[in-house]
Amino acid sequence: MNSWNKSSWRNFKIKQQPTYPDIEKLKETEKQISNFPPLVFAGEVRKLKNELANVCNGKAFLLQGGDCAESFAEFNADNIRDMFKVMMQMAVVLTFAGGCPVVKVGRLAGQFAKPRSSDFEEKDGKKLPSYRGDIVNGNEFSEEARVPNPDRMVKAYNQSSATMNLLRAFARGGLADLHKVHKWNLGFVKENELGEKYQDLANKITETLEFMEACGITSQNTPMINETILYTSHEALLLNYEEALTREDSINGDILDCSAHMLWIGDRTRGVDEAHVEFLRGVINPIGIKAGPTMRESDLLTLIEKLNPQNEAGKINIIVRMGADKIESEFPRLLRAVKNAGKNVIWSIDPMHGNTVKASNNYKTRAFDQILKEVKGFFKAHEQEGTFPGGVHLEMTGQDVTECIGGTKEITEENLCSRYNTHCDPRLNANQALELAFLIAESLKEAKDRMKNS
Ligand code: PEP
Ligand code: CO
Repeated sequence: MNSWNKSSWRNFKIKQQPTYPDIEKLKETEKQISNFPPLVFAGEVRKLKNELANVCNGKAFLLQGGDCAESFAEFNADNIRDMFKVMMQMAVVLTFAGGCPVVKVGRLAGQFAKPRSSDFEEKDGKKLPSYRGDIVNGNEFSEEARVPNPDRMVKAYNQSSATMNLLRAFARGGLADLHKVHKWNLGFVKENELGEKYQDLANKITETLEFMEACGITSQNTPMINETILYTSHEALLLNYEEALTREDSINGDILDCSAHMLWIGDRTRGVDEAHVEFLRGVINPIGIKAGPTMRESDLLTLIEKLNPQNEAGKINIIVRMGADKIESEFPRLLRAVKNAGKNVIWSIDPMHGNTVKASNNYKTRAFDQILKEVKGFFKAHEQEGTFPGGVHLEMTGQDVTECIGGTKEITEENLCSRYNTHCDPRLNANQALELAFLIAESLKEAKDRMKNS
């Protein structure tokens, strides 16, 4: 394979990039960012890879979730705290049900750049360049806002850095305490009338915690009970930014993209001979590959080979996003091809991006039932192939937004307008996300039992 360096992607065809009007300023900004401190460290990335190797082997489960797009406007401590809380709540439910560790990875502290279905947006006869995420240009529909500005990369870096700081504090400062998280879940189950099954699961967790306490295992003497790690991830789309944060590890010479622990390639930029694949093949970070209905078996195998020539477990996370109506017809062929080729991968399901629809009032939305249907289809395919459904990938928020329809506290099309705050795709709100975790828990338990007996 041709030699790689962190700039070699520039010689390849590239999609979904902004056209910066001021190239000199862009270069200066890239140089400035290349001197900024790393956001994540090589040791953390290696630890994540080890944990993901367990997912690969059916011994752990991956929970990846967060905003579709982080924004400058909605950046504040409460939003980050609430996202952290709901991720912890979901993780407790899944850990208990699966009887295995849950690897928690946020779509945050860097999830700013967005691929778009069209380069332009038209409104009232006016045509402007599309919004590509706060790291590139502004969401406001004005000529000025839509001009790509390199200063936004610096702002995104600073926001990511402050977010990381807070996440590290939450993870170690008591907000992840199992007892506390479980108490929030009890409140949720009571309030949402999810039915006996969920009350049952919650009661079992209560009993387990009481039993552990009786044995002397408490938050005070066991760090595992009140500390955790929330890893970060985002789509490695804006390669100018990724390149500037790519460094060589001083100890062993490994190349690390220190903008996040895990990075993924989007469904629109996964061309096997294109720039995004070229860039990511050179870094040691775990890599996600989004796989939609147009993914061919041969292309997926080429991608895996290019990105993970050593077949290292924990390196590749295939993020399936077929849509509820296509999961059954399009997913098994990929699953079989990868299995037959003997490739070590994590399979996770993104039930969001194949299920986006326009409501009658024109809001972009997703139906909770369709989301659940795709997850169930994913688990079923694994049951048939004897493989392990390794994880879920969700667009969600800790806020009480009204962006996806359905759920026990039902959101209807008419409700969408009341708190539709997303800067891009519709997210599950905190209640919907947690409800989904309870529903997935059941399938995860079955899958784990199957793995145990196989
Ligand atoms: C996303 O994850 O926000 C996204 C754009 O996904 P995909 O590449 O699968 O469309
Ligand atoms: Co999205």
